[in-house]
Amino acid sequence: MRVLVADAFPEEHRNRLAEAHECAYEPDTTADQLPARLAGCEVLVVRSTRVTAEALQAADALRLVIRAGSGTNTIDRETASRLGVHVCNVPGRNAIAVAELAFALLLAIDRNIADNVADLRAGRWDKKRYSRARGLFGRDVGVIGLGRIGLAFAERAAAFGTRVHAVAKPGRDDETLERARAIGITFVDDLDELARTCDVLSLHVPAADTTRRLVDRDLLAQVGPGTILLNTARADLVDEDALIEAMDAKDVRAGIDVFADEPGSGTGTIESRLAAHPNVYGTHHIGASTEQAQDAVATEVVRMIDEFAAGTVLHC
Ligand code: MLT
Repeated sequence: MRVLVADAFPEEHRNRLAEAHECAYEPDTTADQLPARLAGCEVLVVRSTRVTAEALQAADALRLVIRAGSGTNTIDRETASRLGVHVCNVPGRNAIAVAELAFALLLAIDRNIADNVADLRAGRWDKKRYSRARGLFGRDVGVIGLGRIGLAFAERAAAFGTRVHAVAKPGRDDETLERARAIGITFVDDLDELARTCDVLSLHVPAADTTRRLVDRDLLAQVGPGTILLNTARADLVDEDALIEAMDAKDVRAGIDVFADEPGSGTGTIESRLAAHPNVYGTHHIGASTEQAQDAVATEVVRMIDEFAAGTVLHC
């Protein structure tokens, strides 16, 4: 198989791929460069690089695109399916890493860690400025989405002595309900109730038509002053303008790992009023960026390519 790996991929797993396949490794490929680089390739592996209709149409031999992560919103799935190109993702393998980042943002916001560090690095000592953290113990934390990441986040929140809540939803499988019970999650009727009653809201749902702008002006009107919103999922879930208004009006604070129009995996600039807002702790879409998570994802990617090459139909 001719494989193009168009984003960073751990060396050990690259070597494994190269033993069995003809593998081109171009980790800095941009969306614009992709069409030319795809010539003759049957398999494409991407993480942050967007796979546009143009790239898919230009690809003369492409049969499989693997997104080395959970979401597939960076791939034009409609065009892929029209052209008979199979699209797979690797859900779950990076769940703990994403949950860890969400929790790190929560702790950092509560204690204002970034400003603490910046002041000290600049030689400033201002203990009084940092003496008013609210603390997390006994607070109400709302988890929006009880998939692998949501549950991993909920476990961490419960371990810190918070009360964890989620929206009741019909059709949840027994395993999810069992884990939710073990964590001690209590269920509320709807998102509005979650927003009204929680000190922290953390988003863990995929981007879809049904989740677009889930956090909008109406929902933000329900949250109390000082509420912390965490988004380590997808930018699409939040109306960024409405969030900025809520931050200005009632000191909502936010931990955000995902932004509209992110530049992708390389270096560049980002023009984002949200990222620049003083109430935002922003990170560079690094939820899945731990060695552990990337190793686990890459192991699965290599397994999928080997199986595909052997003629197995991948059920993704
Ligand atoms: C995901 O979809 O799992 C994350 O966005 C992955 C990533 O950034 O690698």
